[in-house]
Amino acid sequence: MDAAKTVIPDLDALWMPFTANRQYKAAPRLLASASGMYYSTHDGRKVLDACAGLWCVAAGHCRTEITEAVARQVQTLDYAPPFQMGHPLAFEAATKVAGIMPAGLDRIFFTNSGSESVDTALKIALAYHRARGEGQRTRIIGRERGYHGVGFGGMAVGGIGPNRKMFSANLMPGTDHLPATLNIAEAGFSKGQPQWGAHLADDLERILALHDPSNVAAVIVEPLAGSAGVLVPPVGYLERLREITSKYGILLIFDEVITAFGRLGAATAAERFQVTPDLITMAKAINNAAVPMGAVAVKREVHDAVVNAAAAGAIELPHGYTYSAHPLACAAAIAALDIYARENLFGRAAALAPAFEAAVHGVRGAPHVKDIRNLGMVAGIELEPRAGQPGARGYEAFLKCLERGVLVRYTGDILAFSPPLIIDEAQIGEIFDTVRKVLQELP
Ligand SMILES: Cc1ncc(COP(=O)(O)O)c(C=O)c1O
Repeated sequence: MDAAKTVIPDLDALWMPFTANRQYKAAPRLLASASGMYYSTHDGRKVLDACAGLWCVAAGHCRTEITEAVARQVQTLDYAPPFQMGHPLAFEAATKVAGIMPAGLDRIFFTNSGSESVDTALKIALAYHRARGEGQRTRIIGRERGYHGVGFGGMAVGGIGPNRKMFSANLMPGTDHLPATLNIAEAGFSKGQPQWGAHLADDLERILALHDPSNVAAVIVEPLAGSAGVLVPPVGYLERLREITSKYGILLIFDEVITAFGRLGAATAAERFQVTPDLITMAKAINNAAVPMGAVAVKREVHDAVVNAAAAGAIELPHGYTYSAHPLACAAAIAALDIYARENLFGRAAALAPAFEAAVHGVRGAPHVKDIRNLGMVAGIELEPRAGQPGARGYEAFLKCLERGVLVRYTGDILAFSPPLIIDEAQIGEIFDTVRKVLQELP
């Protein structure tokens, strides 16, 4: 399965996203092909994928059922306009996605990415309150260290300082932020959900008292924050957010771009935690990432309020994308969701989670390890930063893992792991053995 050796192309024209461009181009790392649990690099090395691409390839790479469905589709109907026209796979894909959402969240709006899903959900929340005659509800509460993509709305409700810094004056106004839930002193090395920290949800009451609940449209959180370094919700925390938002008629949005489609051992984090939000944003594994796609699942009452408020014949929600429900994305989604069901991949994730937990916590005690966090098939290892060089140790760990044939993700000094759900126990062992060896070598 090794890829044919690929010549490195001219690297200058491409401005790479979320990449240290100069550092990368000085020592490029190219992936040439992929199959199952493995990538092949441009120089023909096989690399175990410990992060499902970017949290998205849940069923493993280049699954024949998906590649064939996409190939068939591009030859049958390459594109169809989604505005005032439809095509059958769009409806079929929506029905399939709705079928695995929590009961009641059965109206699906398609987008092309997580960022678009977030901005779509925020707009739906505003449209909902306005349709009900509460147009003053415009404020949206996010959370520190939250990641909701890179749109102006998502950045504003997000809580990652470096992402906001350059755009600070232009972010969507009318936001506020809950505190992040991570506290290593109180809950370091928690296995699964930390016991400490449910009370942090009560901060929402304080924020609501400040702005008045009647002005607040929605609260948006990742049920488990991935991109900021795998922050697992404390026991009881999400339940409390649900209670408070319900009490004041505020919509609760779960950003499940990472957690939906099996990552936590259930179809959604909402199902895993038995907490039902009003909207769920998703993307990534919705179609195993074969074609860009995202979606928002919306509670039927929210959908109906918006749709029924408009005059007959009027467009109820002036929002959408040229590529919403793109035929290739829908073909991939239908094929991917069939694989997830047929192979019981969400159940497999739940079954593998204890072995995954044991393996990642086995790295405790290795040099530089400051904290280890995990839930389902996601885990983070936070390293002590090297003095005066934040992020350097994380980057070097990532490089050395790659040299040893394992692709991990790093954000600053945090290593994140979210392998395809088809992984086996030997491969789980290989990932964390590699990480342990790398940390032992690392200055
Ligand atoms: C929770 C969450 N929301 C939104 C996004 C943005 O998704 P995208 O990069 O597809 O725009 C991400 C990406 O990682 C995410 O993790």
